[in-house]
Amino acid sequence: MNSILAFYNSSIGKKIMMSLTGLFLIIFLVEHLVGNLLLYANDGGHMFEAYGAFLVSNPVIRTIEIVLFAAVLVHALLAVILWYRNRQTRPDKYELYRLKDNTPLASRTTIITGSVIFIFLVIHLDSFFLPTRFGAEKVSSYELILMKFANPWYDLFYVVALLLLGYHLKHGFQSAFQTLGLRNRKYTPLIDGLAFIVWFLIPLAFATIPVYFYFFQQATSAVLMGVH
Ligand code: HEM
Repeated sequence: MNSILAFYNSSIGKKIMMSLTGLFLIIFLVEHLVGNLLLYANDGGHMFEAYGAFLVSNPVIRTIEIVLFAAVLVHALLAVILWYRNRQTRPDKYELYRLKDNTPLASRTTIITGSVIFIFLVIHLDSFFLPTRFGAEKVSSYELILMKFANPWYDLFYVVALLLLGYHLKHGFQSAFQTLGLRNRKYTPLIDGLAFIVWFLIPLAFATIPVYFYFFQQATSAVLMGVH
């Protein structure tokens, strides 16, 4: 027990936990994207809703969902602790040190991009997760998507948040493999290929969704908003 606590308290222990939770969150993103791409079936949200209903009714998925929320909280909390400790120990008040600081921009800004993603997540859950699961009025996820994405400001916020998510993952994904000691000559080409999918293609695919709904589903949204 003591050794677990000591591991948790050490910086490297925290970094390993951040890497593992981060990789788990990326797996969730892949699953979430696959589900969301069903929105392109152009069948009035039929397949998308069926997939959602399957997930909600599955006890294993419901359990994983609890792990997912715990992973988000652990990842965010450890990031803040590590960032704060780092700030306290680094003499970056000195200009000379700053000039020498050649860590990539994506790495120095992960705490900022991470904070925006956290805010995005709170707004996102408030838009979709809370009303579909706990709302008094029964409304489907598809209807909510149509209504929310009819607002250009909401869409712009999503696109910006997803841009920052890409930037966050650009550093985070590589850094996780570094921390876990998996970045050697044999695996590097594979990791680099996966990294491109993770930091570029996944956020890009998510970002097409609000854009698509704004430009191509306006008529359906207008009908729906007339009803509600
Ligand atoms: C832009 C496209 C996206 C759409 C259309 C979308 C849609 C949805 C919907 C409808 C739900 C509610 C599902 C339900 O509980 O029935 C949901 C939940 C959720 N979304 Fe998204 N989402 C998008 C992007 C994202 C991104 C980029 C993230 C993470 C950074 C994210 C994280 C989550 C989480 C954590 C949940 C709650 C867990 C779950 O229900 O699976 N979503 N999303």
